[in-house]
Amino acid sequence: MLNNKTIVVTGVASGIGAHTAKLLKQQGATVVGLDRNIASENIDKFIQVDLTEQKSIDEAIAQIDGIDGLCNIAGLPPTLDRDMVMTVNFVALRYLTEGLISKMNHGASIVNVASLAGIGWPQSVDAVKDTLDNINFDNVAEFCDKHDVAGPRSYFFSKEALLVWTMRNRWQWRDRGIRMNCVSPGPVDTPILKDFIETLGDRAEEDMKVMDRAGTPEDIAPVIVFLLRDDSAWIRGANIPVDGGMSSHVMEQIHNLA
Ligand code: NAI
Repeated sequence: MLNNKTIVVTGVASGIGAHTAKLLKQQGATVVGLDRNIASENIDKFIQVDLTEQKSIDEAIAQIDGIDGLCNIAGLPPTLDRDMVMTVNFVALRYLTEGLISKMNHGASIVNVASLAGIGWPQSVDAVKDTLDNINFDNVAEFCDKHDVAGPRSYFFSKEALLVWTMRNRWQWRDRGIRMNCVSPGPVDTPILKDFIETLGDRAEEDMKVMDRAGTPEDIAPVIVFLLRDDSAWIRGANIPVDGGMSSHVMEQIHNLA
C-alpha cells in the first residue's frame, strides 16, 4: 500500500515511532528516521537530530527531499523541563514540518502524534491562539510564563497547541494535495509511561483500571500508517483518539451524558 512512498518518522528510536517504522517497511515504504538517539532497525536512512536545536533541524531538513509523508512522533513527557517539553513537542515539530513542506510530493500526508492530554484545548483557546501566532525557539520561557504554563502543564499545553494547529492547517496546502491529521493516544506502554504515572499519580492508576489496560505501540502505529495511505485521503485536519475509549469516557463525565 505504501510502495514508492518515502516517509519521514521522528522519534524513530523508541516506542510508537519505532513500531511505526516497522509497519511502514512491511507495507513497502522507504523510511527516513530522525531521532536524537541513533537507530537503524526498519530505517533506510537515519538522520541524527536534536529537536531542541533549530540548527540541528535545519541540517536535517537539508538532507531530506522528495517525501510523501511525515510522522511527527518524537516527544518528551511531562516530568521533564518545561521549556524543553514545549520546544520538542510543539515548536520544533512545527518548525520541522514547515521546513519540509517544500520537499513534499503532491498528495503527501502529515501525521502528528498528539495525546489524550490535549483534550482540554477548548478551555485554553486564547493562550493557544497566542502560542500559534507568536511562540518561537527564542521566547519559549517568556511565553510559558505569560500563560502560567508551569511544570507538567507544559506537556498538556504543547498537545493542546498541536491539536489546534492541526485543525488550522486542514486546507493550508490543499492546492498540492498535502493534508495533516493528529492521532491522540491514551497511556501507552513505552519508556515514558512511568513519567505519566509520576505526573498524574492516582489518577493514572484509576484511568488505567477504567480502560482495563494501557495501550501498546501495536495499538497506535496502524492508525498512523493508515493516515499516510492514499485511501485515507479524505481525512483532513482530524484528530483520531486511539485510547481504549478514554476520551469518550472523559466527554461523558464533562458533559454529564450518562
Ligand atoms: P518514547 O520515549 O518511547 O519515544 C520518544 C522518542 O522521541 C525517543 O526515541 C526520543 O529519543 C525522541 N526524542 C525525544 N526528544 C528528542 C529530541 N530533542 N530530539 C530528537 N528526538 C527526540 O515515547 P513514545 O511513548 O513512543 O512517545 C511518542 C509520542 O507519543 C510522543 O509525542 C508522546 O507525547 C506521545 N504519547 C505517548 C503516550 C504514552 O503514554 N507513551 C501517550 C500519549 C501520547
